[in-house]
Amino acid sequence: VIAQPNVAKGKPISKDLFGIFFEDLSYAADGGLYAELVQNRSFEYTPADNKAWNPFTAWQYVTDGFGYGSISVESAAPLHVNNPHYVLLNIQDEGQKGIGLKNTGFDGMVIKSAGKYNFSVFIKNEGKAIPMVVQLQTTKGVVIGETTFTADKSTWKKYTANIKPTAGTDTAHLVVLAKGKGKLALDMISLFPQNTYKGHANGLRADLGEAIANLKPKFMRFPGGCLVHGDGIANIYNWKNTVGPIEQRVEQRNIWNYHQSVGLGYFEYFQFCEDIGAKPLPVVAAAVSCQNSGGTWRIGGTGQKGISMDEMQAYIQDVIDLIEYANGPATSHWGAIRAAAGHPKPFNLQYIGIGNEDKITPEFTERFTMIYKAVKAKHPEVTIIGTVGPSPAGPDYEAGWKIADQLAVPVVDEHYYESPEWFLKNNNRYDSYNRSHSKVYLGEYASRGNTLYNALCEAAYMTALERNGDVVHMASYAPLIARAGHTSWNPNLIYFNGTEVIPTVNYYVQQLFSVNQGDSYFANTVKFAGLNTKDSTLAASCVRDSQTGDVILKIVNTGATTVTANADVSAFKGLASIASLSILSGDPKAKNASISDKNILPVTSTLKVNPKFMYSVPAYSCSVIRISGK
Ligand code: AHR
Repeated sequence: VIAQPNVAKGKPISKDLFGIFFEDLSYAADGGLYAELVQNRSFEYTPADNKAWNPFTAWQYVTDGFGYGSISVESAAPLHVNNPHYVLLNIQDEGQKGIGLKNTGFDGMVIKSAGKYNFSVFIKNEGKAIPMVVQLQTTKGVVIGETTFTADKSTWKKYTANIKPTAGTDTAHLVVLAKGKGKLALDMISLFPQNTYKGHANGLRADLGEAIANLKPKFMRFPGGCLVHGDGIANIYNWKNTVGPIEQRVEQRNIWNYHQSVGLGYFEYFQFCEDIGAKPLPVVAAAVSCQNSGGTWRIGGTGQKGISMDEMQAYIQDVIDLIEYANGPATSHWGAIRAAAGHPKPFNLQYIGIGNEDKITPEFTERFTMIYKAVKAKHPEVTIIGTVGPSPAGPDYEAGWKIADQLAVPVVDEHYYESPEWFLKNNNRYDSYNRSHSKVYLGEYASRGNTLYNALCEAAYMTALERNGDVVHMASYAPLIARAGHTSWNPNLIYFNGTEVIPTVNYYVQQLFSVNQGDSYFANTVKFAGLNTKDSTLAASCVRDSQTGDVILKIVNTGATTVTANADVSAFKGLASIASLSILSGDPKAKNASISDKNILPVTSTLKVNPKFMYSVPAYSCSVIRISGK
């Protein structure tokens, strides 16, 4: 007997259920979403970022035309105190071709023959004016684009030029040559494609931005992950270091063994969220670093487990200032800084996360409580998301929930990376969550693989997130993007290199759910014969989107046999008789390995539907049946 769904009794579920988790790991920012083509443009790399690195990493001294002189990294008279290193080029004889320096980019620079590129540099020249040549070269030294300018006698001055290449290559180098004798200080040597996502200056990579936008996420969490709390107090992400003119930002070691230029900083994150229609969800550290590791913060001291109590008020003020930066009027102190960056209107921040998967120690508890109470008192309109430590169970998880209960934290962040089978077996995890406690943000989850089978097990779990959308307020697969060859974490949702963006099969599952979200849930609309066990290979959900009136069924089969599903949508009135059907199916071991080898893509067609209809569910498949509410 099929229970009758009752439109009137649909359960309201979160409107912000499916979003994305962006962390700067695996070159997600520099060398990734951030469109800058020059690596180490400000000469701020150090061995602390990566043992093999120094301020001249990714650069080479160029004296091709029999010129001579020298080049050195200096810090005596920088462009800005926050940006201490620059190069000093001493040209004693410019030779036939000039002397200068070459940047090799992130695995080379992808230059498109039809593209246009914006070059910029800061130069200090205390001597005579010097003619400069900027070239795009192939690895063999063939010039495929060029521009010229004159480095005037001047203190630090910014020069900009456009380059229109005559040919394209995926491995170009940028060469800057001085063609006159003298001494030049150079810093912030930069090259951007003009074609950034939405065309912003200091912008983001168009193809990656597009792939992320196509997920239609309801929210975007940033900038991490562990990046947020760092691996020592001194490595805690400080949002104030990441706004303002890029040459004045404070660069930072990346916990994932590389560097953060912070060119993609808080302004750019907020702007990207706005561009893709995702609610921004910044996460700040709970004044402790990763697993409460020691370190220093501002006034020093080593081995501190958390920011010292002397500095807590300043830290809390930073968090409150972040809300002013996002939401304050352009006349407020931080709102004015946002406005100066080109965005006088607020960014409409509704959520803020405090803490990331922290060990729930006394140091954490004391600091989290202080920040939580201060932010709540000052900004009751912002929903605070706390943390319940590493999940899905364990002492930190228990302790985290205890704090959440005591403080009545509105939402808490759970994280888990488990096997595909775990996701099937735990499909009922949230069915028994107490609805009068904190809601859940499942901020990080993945099933440890990028095969269709992994993706389907995640899809089955996502039907349970919808079923529990009254207590699971938000969910985001993690991590989002990773540069092939530079991964610090696997699996990821999207892989990329300089030329390609490769959405995984998991990406298509996320997309199918994300673009087909509803705001009420209906039980018992889809029935399978034999769906009695908790670890069933079958799962289904039914949601309705009140905006369109559309009713959306998601049916997942992680098993090897075709199954019949009986759907009953007779309680919904006025539905169309032809539905759209999207199916992701295939070999359970298949992955989307490269741009030319995308094995598994959703296939869309139409399906004739009646108030009651049977649907033959293919083996290893995720089907989304969307019935228009007219
Ligand atoms: O997503 C990768 C990492 O997993 C995150 O940085 C951290 O929060 C979790 O342990």
